[in-house]
Amino acid sequence: MKRLSTGIGGLDRLIAGGIPEGFLVAAVGEPGTGKTIFSLHFAWRGIIEGQKVIYVTTEESRESIVNQAKMFGMDFEGAMRDKQMIIIDALLRSKSDKWNLVELSIEELVSKIIEAKKELGFGEARVVIDSMSAFWLDKPAMARKYSYFVKRVLNKWNMTIVATSQYAITTNFGFGFGIEHVADGIIRFKKLIKGGELKRYLIIEKMRQTPHSLKVHEIEIRDGIGMVVKGPVEYTRDEVTLPKEVREAVIKGVERRELEEKLMEL
Ligand SMILES: Nc1ncnc2c1ncn2[C@@H]1O[C@H](COP(=O)(O)OP(=O)(O)O)[C@@H](O)[C@H]1O
Ligand SMILES: [Mg+2]
Repeated sequence: MKRLSTGIGGLDRLIAGGIPEGFLVAAVGEPGTGKTIFSLHFAWRGIIEGQKVIYVTTEESRESIVNQAKMFGMDFEGAMRDKQMIIIDALLRSKSDKWNLVELSIEELVSKIIEAKKELGFGEARVVIDSMSAFWLDKPAMARKYSYFVKRVLNKWNMTIVATSQYAITTNFGFGFGIEHVADGIIRFKKLIKGGELKRYLIIEKMRQTPHSLKVHEIEIRDGIGMVVKGPVEYTRDEVTLPKEVREAVIKGVERRELEEKLMEL
């Protein structure tokens, strides 16, 4: 089986070398946990390997993505110039830019990605959809159906897909679960304040056909470098238990069993 490097050496080692070709991998987590930075690495690695890369951005403009990538030495402008990459901007939604999404609809998303693939030409492609949850913001019940549609259609196009999904324990459990049911892999990003400092972590929750790490790993985002995966960490319970009010608020919205599973993972 062919595996695609994520562009983050320390992460590839946790998943037996990389993401199996053709997979749809969900990168899930709260804001600021590193989902976009992870996506940038995955995209840039594709450029380095001579693949075609299609990057859909819904929460930041194309310019913001290009500037963020530049901080880690990734030249997305050059890749676009060389017709190796198309960044579909779904934030600005101008009709005058061919690679903007005018509507945030899943049909337009899929047809734009296919159009971009045709434009880039023959060959293996990596696709990033950052974020997928933006497409069901106002209709969370559609999350699963939409995710399935994206997977089913893009599967035929020789694409390996990373799709991010927003997830916040304090707000809404329904948010993002759709894609997790459909994904071949799930990488969960977390953040914690520890000793007065923001720490970030990741865990491979699922990776089909892969003997993957089951440990929580601390990650760092370093200027000029990007995401670095450190060794496994041990959590202690009192570092991560949520305040009682928060838990009660969350319980109202979800099945208790589901919540307990989530809390056990923390
Ligand atoms: N050049 C940089 N050097 C160090 N950290 C950075 C740099 N650029 C961004 N970051 C960190 O990355 C975070 C954003 O991560 P991002 O992947 O965009 O999160 P999200 O999960 O919301 O997509 C910022 O809040 C900041 O902490
Ligand atoms: Mg982001």
